[in-house]
Amino acid sequence: MSILVTGGLGFIGSHTVVALIKEGYKVVIADNLSNSKIEVLNALENLTNETIPFYQIDVIDEDAVSRLFENQKFSGVIHFAGYKAVGESVNEPLKYYRNNLLSTITLANICQKKGVKKFIFSSSATVYGSNRVPFDETMQLLPTTNPYGETKAMCERILGDLVQANGDFEVALLRYFNPIGAHPSGGIGEAPNGIPNNLMPFITQVATGKLKELQVFGDDYPTPDGTGVRDYIHVMDLAEGHVAALENSKPGVHIYNLGTGKGTSVLEFIETFERVNKIKIPYKVVPRRVGDVAYSYADVSKAKRELNWTAKRNLEHMCRDAWNFEKLNSKD
Ligand code: UFG
Repeated sequence: MSILVTGGLGFIGSHTVVALIKEGYKVVIADNLSNSKIEVLNALENLTNETIPFYQIDVIDEDAVSRLFENQKFSGVIHFAGYKAVGESVNEPLKYYRNNLLSTITLANICQKKGVKKFIFSSSATVYGSNRVPFDETMQLLPTTNPYGETKAMCERILGDLVQANGDFEVALLRYFNPIGAHPSGGIGEAPNGIPNNLMPFITQVATGKLKELQVFGDDYPTPDGTGVRDYIHVMDLAEGHVAALENSKPGVHIYNLGTGKGTSVLEFIETFERVNKIKIPYKVVPRRVGDVAYSYADVSKAKRELNWTAKRNLEHMCRDAWNFEKLNSKD
């Protein structure tokens, strides 16, 4: 029996594949390569010394997913596949609703038909909106400011309703904070297409000289230095959180924050990256980015209590590993 990892060649999916195989799981990857590269499969096979079955399919394609479930037997599913660019989701909302909702519905439907009960879903801290920090899992969700965030909140509700109707389903909704970093080998990491939207990949491209300078989006937030505060988590810690969720899977719907519980401002982040990697990051402060909140960090006590999981790596590790990956893999 294997674990099906959809989006297994993407940033978080690929690191989770490594963590699963390290713990002895057999893994099958389904990925449509829309935002990932087939080379990641070779890198994963090198890192794990395993041949990993790979299906280039779209998870909204019901026939293709049904055939996959005929070919392979699964004890659980981890569903990463989805679009994730916040800005793009504002410009192309239907693309986001169609893909992110239909993939989740299709996969859950086939799991139900085939009796696969363990279902882990990639959610996001974005569902908390502008709640008070630290965000905890019992909070009433507030509207997010973009269709991407809405798809996460909607998928959470869809899976919750499925559990209501079908009590032996075991659903874990994992709310990620800000995953960054890379596998310490530099074999896999974050490789966004085009100009990055997120802070770490933008900084590593400034560090290589590919981009001229970082724009800091606002220094007039009600935070100690005026810049946005986020809970950055090493992608390997996040990956291990998925293994913990799988091992502690139980009937019902269970929500867990996966973060460190520690907030870091943009200026603190830049200072840490510069110190750890001994590279100057030129930046200028520009107006706030629409949709950003001042603060986002997790109350991580539930994951610790119920999954026996906490993040082990700090921001220094994240900056070191992200830069190592960029140096080894940037083309210029
Ligand atoms: N930032 C900059 N300059 C940049 C990029 C980001 O100053 O070029 C700032 C942002 O304003 C924010 C912080 O750096 O204060 C982090 O921004 P990211 O874009 O890296 O991450 P976000 O917190 O905006 O978004 C991330 C994920 C989303 C997810 C959200 C959940 O990218 O998918 O966390 O809170 F929805």
